[in-house]
Amino acid sequence: MTDRYAVFGHPIAHSKSPQIHAAFARQTAQDMRYEAILAPLDGFAESIARFAAEGGRGANVTVPFKEEAFRLATRLTAHAERAGAANTLVFEADGVLGDNTDGAGLVADLTRKLQRPLSARRILLLGAGGAARGVIAPLLEQGPAELVIANRTVSRAQRLAEPFDGRVKACGFDALDTPFDVVINATAASLAGELPPLSPQVFGAGALAYDMMYGRDTPFLAFARAHGADTADGLGMLVEQAAEAFFLWRGVRPDTAPVIAALRA
Ligand code: ATR
Repeated sequence: MTDRYAVFGHPIAHSKSPQIHAAFARQTAQDMRYEAILAPLDGFAESIARFAAEGGRGANVTVPFKEEAFRLATRLTAHAERAGAANTLVFEADGVLGDNTDGAGLVADLTRKLQRPLSARRILLLGAGGAARGVIAPLLEQGPAELVIANRTVSRAQRLAEPFDGRVKACGFDALDTPFDVVINATAASLAGELPPLSPQVFGAGALAYDMMYGRDTPFLAFARAHGADTADGLGMLVEQAAEAFFLWRGVRPDTAPVIAALRA
């Protein structure tokens, strides 16, 4: 029987996940179907329960339901626990496993772009919302020389850094005056067509500037490019986080490069 999966969000019409998972399934000859489901803003848990009752095997969860998915899970991976949010659910016989593959997706994409590991790199993470929180632990696991979180509201950055026992530094944008190897924009500024108030000094020689948003050039990427950085948008992260979910469900690792190339084209 064909196994069913779906992505739940609100809105969901423009999600690329069905296309990505269909490509993975074709490539790895998995008998599965993957659809996009619009959950009502006040009816996420019901939508999930119905899908699982109908035989659904797993789900991806996107905005604005990742925190609700975290609360709904009966078992959590360490990454979901740290993120306080789940983007991947597995419906098991005795409950629901919640994982968060966003950070692993980001690490995989960064590693490919840099063509070397993140260990000993100086990493600057901009923003202290859900997008930033989801990637801190996976980035730290790579053993960077430094991980700094900068946010407009400094107290939010401090709150995110706190559980990591001094291994993550927190500050405001105005305190940034040293160079980094990787600068990741996890703020919502790009959505609004805005540029975080960033000193160009953060871009060290050969720095990679990474915007988690994809689909258009952002003020952050344009600014970084103008100051000599290499740039990348979040499309690769989107495909890589999907690949991590696919692996969790199917036990098979798809080849992401052709899928990223197809989406770009
Ligand atoms: P998400 O879950 O997408 O991360 P969020 O929790 O609303 O969304 O967080 C949005 C993040 O973008 C915050 O870090 C926010 O900064 P504040 O905490 O100071 O509000 C940041 N942000 C939004 N617009 C910004 C802008 N124009 N410049 C800099 N940071 C911005």
